[in-house]
Amino acid sequence: MAFKLPPLPYPETALEPHISARTLQFHHGKHHKKYIDTLNQLIEGTAFAGQSLEDIILATADDLSQQKIFNNAAQTWNHSFFWQCLSPDGGGRPDGALMDRIQADFGSFDKFRQDFSTAAQGQFGSGWAWLTEDGGRLKIMTTGNAGLPLTHGETALLTCDVWEHAYYLDYQNDRAKFVDTFLSELANWKFAQHQPEGAAAGKEPRRAQQRGQIAARMGAAAQRSEKKTSQQQG
Ligand SMILES: [Fe+2]
Repeated sequence: MAFKLPPLPYPETALEPHISARTLQFHHGKHHKKYIDTLNQLIEGTAFAGQSLEDIILATADDLSQQKIFNNAAQTWNHSFFWQCLSPDGGGRPDGALMDRIQADFGSFDKFRQDFSTAAQGQFGSGWAWLTEDGGRLKIMTTGNAGLPLTHGETALLTCDVWEHAYYLDYQNDRAKFVDTFLSELANWKFAQHQPEGAAAGKEPRRAQQRGQIAARMGAAAQRSEKKTSQQQG
């Protein structure tokens, strides 16, 4: 079963004037679609066909020979997640339990906002800024290119795409203004507070499983590297 481009959760004009319909037409209809089409082509007839997106991502991360599959699978996941992190009614501050957790883990919402903004602006080149949950604690992380919290054993709550294709048509090179607008007008806190399904109820078994898979994969990569070295020496 091939992966399909999920529809946007709102009309293309819904985020205007902050994100134009034209940006969404390109970002969703061209960029996101291209990642999915390429992923489907790459995995057709391989052992990855029929696997879940998360399993493909975990199986190909840190494996240079599978980098194309990883990049397209991770960008497929990242964009499907990102559309839900935007809302015409977004921005401002979360409420309830998520606000309490942000205040507890960052000191205040303003401090979180400042740190998230600095991280998003400081990500060199293409990438993503994330609010994540790690072992019950909220954190900010950035990833380059197609990177995502899943392969670090962390759970994504909210993300901002800082690839230029996310903002160039509307903001040109002013990433700072785009990130500020994301936080002020678009961030979908209602979505974030329900991430992941059951995060608050404890995702430790899944995280432990992910970490186990990552450790196993890194061990296998190290073995491959040792084998290669001994073959070269032999
Ligand atoms: Fe993007």
